[in-house]
Amino acid sequence: DPEYQLYAHPLLPRGKPFLLVVLSGWGEGKEDEYNAIHKSNCVIIKRLRNIYPWRWRTLKAHGDVVGLPTENDPGNGEVGNNALGCGKIIIQRASLVDTAIASGELYKGAGWLYSKEAWVNGGTLHLIGLLSDGGVHSRYDQLAAIIRAAADHCCKKMRLHILTDGRDVPDGTSLGFVEQLEKELEGIRKYGCDAQIASGGGRMFVTMDRYEADWRIVQRGWYAHVLGISPHKFESATEAITKLKQADPKQVNDQFLPPFVVVRKNGQPWGIIEDEDIVINFNFRADRMIQLSKAFVDENFDKFDRVRWPNVRYVAMVQYDVEAKLPVHFLVAPPVIDKLSGKYLCANGIRTFVVSESQKMGHVTFNWNGNRGSKLDQRLETYHEVQSENVRFELEPEMRTRTIARVAHDALLSGLYDYVRVMFAAADMVGHTHDLEATKRACECIDAAIKLLLNGVDKCGGVFMIIGDHGNCDDMAQREKDGNPLLDDKGRAHPKTSHSMGEVPIGIGGPGLPRCVRFRKNLRNVGLANATATFMNLLGFEAPYHYEPSLLTFDWNKWEFTGV
Ligand code: 3PG
Ligand code: CO
Repeated sequence: DPEYQLYAHPLLPRGKPFLLVVLSGWGEGKEDEYNAIHKSNCVIIKRLRNIYPWRWRTLKAHGDVVGLPTENDPGNGEVGNNALGCGKIIIQRASLVDTAIASGELYKGAGWLYSKEAWVNGGTLHLIGLLSDGGVHSRYDQLAAIIRAAADHCCKKMRLHILTDGRDVPDGTSLGFVEQLEKELEGIRKYGCDAQIASGGGRMFVTMDRYEADWRIVQRGWYAHVLGISPHKFESATEAITKLKQADPKQVNDQFLPPFVVVRKNGQPWGIIEDEDIVINFNFRADRMIQLSKAFVDENFDKFDRVRWPNVRYVAMVQYDVEAKLPVHFLVAPPVIDKLSGKYLCANGIRTFVVSESQKMGHVTFNWNGNRGSKLDQRLETYHEVQSENVRFELEPEMRTRTIARVAHDALLSGLYDYVRVMFAAADMVGHTHDLEATKRACECIDAAIKLLLNGVDKCGGVFMIIGDHGNCDDMAQREKDGNPLLDDKGRAHPKTSHSMGEVPIGIGGPGLPRCVRFRKNLRNVGLANATATFMNLLGFEAPYHYEPSLLTFDWNKWEFTGV
């Protein structure tokens, strides 16, 4: 395809094996006792940073450079890997929904009218999603806007199916969100809309699995939301959260709350999902709602027994898979993410090997490829998934780091690939548990994995880039406005489960990289998308002109002949 033809870089050689390592949830933050990287023994990373300061720097990974609504929005795996894969700043889903709500376009769109038609004809509107203001998968104010608008547009019966967060927001905040929601529903009941919370559960245990790591999670959600079946029945969501935590305070938190069903005095569930009903999934982010969406729309679904498959109008806040058109109906159109680095590289014959573990596999494939579920090129790309263990991540903080490293190392030395892309999930996944000791172990294991990989790069005369996709384990404490940790009455910092606002490191090197290559210092507001042009250069190509500029510059005092 001539449109995707790349020019050879005038200075950088082609044909050196290239290794790209993405460290998920790895930022460079304040170096205090709540920075798991700083507190751990990450010798390799620290050495790289100190020995080659001209080949190590940080990039912004949150707010405007990844297309998020505000500078208070931390980065995340979806927006970060979208940016890395496409080299451009994309106005992201959270922002698109905000705009559509503010302008009122959302309520004129096809998805809204399709839903409205059914509730005007007596169908119940079910709203399913993450109840939180984390802004990563969903946002409370967007949900509230939808609830009010639906009531305004003659919706007479509404049921809420809520997933508690504690991962993008502090643990324990779910009760507050439920309280807010109950007030909201009380408000619209006064206007004649019969509105109730009907079911729920913790996001990591109920409904919000991703990349098919564990379908049982989705099945629990299906039983509670659709069938109204759960061993845990309560008369309100508040009672459910309080009592389920009391019953097992060690295991149960917001993230891992068991599935529950809210019942009337007579024990009957308030809201099962039935034929002719409408389901609006109010999460805008894709990864953790694709599986539930399939359960709702796939005729030949076989991942678990649905028992009953109601014929509903299923609508997503934003379409989740652009290529598979999943689902067909949505309230806001997804961002257009095209001219992908992978498209260019395949068009220029680059043989690519991608490896990660289940928990993050889609981050370096699906998100990397602009939220497309399939490979860009069957012949040139190999995707290798290492199966994640389904255990609590703080119990096995190394996760599958060693295996990922071994597989990537062997791919690099096999001579079969020009470009090996690796993602390590552990620092982020364990960081979300707020267990500082476990997170330190995750970081050290990744550091050792990098050592193995850099050995591989040395052996094959290659080039490497190491980069974070957003911060997390670099800051494990909630903070005051002034940056000091927020302390409880015993003087201990309140633990933070969510991503950090830290910048992420980017480092380059390897024997295949000419000595004269270094990072520019004079670019402003540099973000993740600048890394894309940079790695295309490292593969020996000029980046497309519409990409954010490359970070590379050349020190002519260290010039040498590179054989180009
Ligand atoms: C999750 O889905 O696990 C968190 O909400 C965000 O984490 P990620 O963006 O690092 O995947
Ligand atoms: Co994360």
